[in-house]
Amino acid sequence: MESYFSKNITDALKNDPPGEWMPAMPDDCIRLSSGFPAPNLVPVEGIKNAVVDLLDDEQDLPLHYLGTPKMDQLKSMLQDRMAERGMPVSDKELLVTAGACQAIDFIARVFIDEQTIIAIESPTYMEALEVFQNYTSQFLNVPVDEYGMQTDVLEKMLEDRQQEGLSLPKLLYTIPTFQNPTGTTMTEARRKHVIELAETYDFLILEDDAYGELYFDEQAVPLKALDRAERVLYVGSLSKVVAPGLRIGWVATTRETIQALYWFKKDLDHPFTQAIMATFLEKNDLGKRLEMLRNTYQARRNVLLSALKEQMPDGVSWYVPEGGYFIWIKVSGVDTSLMLDQALDAGVSYVPGKYFFLENQESIEWLRLSFSYASEEDMIEGVRKLSKVVKESL
Ligand SMILES: Cc1ncc(COP(=O)(O)O)c(C=O)c1O
Repeated sequence: MESYFSKNITDALKNDPPGEWMPAMPDDCIRLSSGFPAPNLVPVEGIKNAVVDLLDDEQDLPLHYLGTPKMDQLKSMLQDRMAERGMPVSDKELLVTAGACQAIDFIARVFIDEQTIIAIESPTYMEALEVFQNYTSQFLNVPVDEYGMQTDVLEKMLEDRQQEGLSLPKLLYTIPTFQNPTGTTMTEARRKHVIELAETYDFLILEDDAYGELYFDEQAVPLKALDRAERVLYVGSLSKVVAPGLRIGWVATTRETIQALYWFKKDLDHPFTQAIMATFLEKNDLGKRLEMLRNTYQARRNVLLSALKEQMPDGVSWYVPEGGYFIWIKVSGVDTSLMLDQALDAGVSYVPGKYFFLENQESIEWLRLSFSYASEEDMIEGVRKLSKVVKESL
């Protein structure tokens, strides 16, 4: 059968299988690896009521292929949210997708050939890497520091490539705000710089804003709000702020691109969960919910930071995130992928840094902890366990 697979798929299957990075965790393990919301932060009652109300009101309508007017209502709610954040778009410039991941996949499908170069942050969100690697093997790795992607390094790379007559990237994938895995936020100067670079060197920017609304003090201006030359394809998600299992994300970009993306989406739509989300948002104020989540995640971040400060030995350092879900930690001189077994034996999990990079020797010293999932008590206990393992490994 395999000999019938397309060339593209045969190439893609040579990569590591998706999800390899996920540690196989014992049941009683404290999950500092999990990049999703804590069980008590998922609005189970609200969603249950939305399902009942929706089916009471609309009967079979949301269960058909064509769905219900609620889907358009969801779209206009997302448009309102975009407009509030300085990114007004028309209904022809927005497509609802099955999560940000489907948006990323469709964008890759529409723009990427096997020789297309994608510039990515190094490190970056590993599931996006998995998706892109299904389409191309040509990447330009742009380093990230505590102020986000180093746009001066990107500029130098582009200049050098142009001088050497090498191809330039067609697309840059960035998570400018509360990046996964580093938790860092690109400064405003770097945001403006990257947009200038896109115009000078003629590439598109895929802005993944999965965490943008989860700021603790200050809201960053999305790249899309700064973009005057239609370079940015903005991808949003309700996974981190409502419920990941409903798989509601979206792309906002030019009408022409949305039409091309829709070509692939039309018969892969999921009317029921879109209608549930619209009903949920109609009855539950997203603004208030976001405020609650910001306060909760800020308190959780503070607990994790204090535990790290109290427990971690010298030789361990981290970036302080101003929002989002993650803390990125450097354990000098230690291969964190080798240390994972000891950590799991001790009852705590993390994600080793190497999975977020395509190439970089330094990556082995880093690890990602999440403050979104474990309870505050568990985070303190998890850091106690982890610091013991770290001390033995240093
Ligand atoms: C940067 C980033 N983008 C996208 C996603 C996934 O979003 P969705 O659930 O909407 O596909 C995640 C989830 O971890 C993420 O970290």
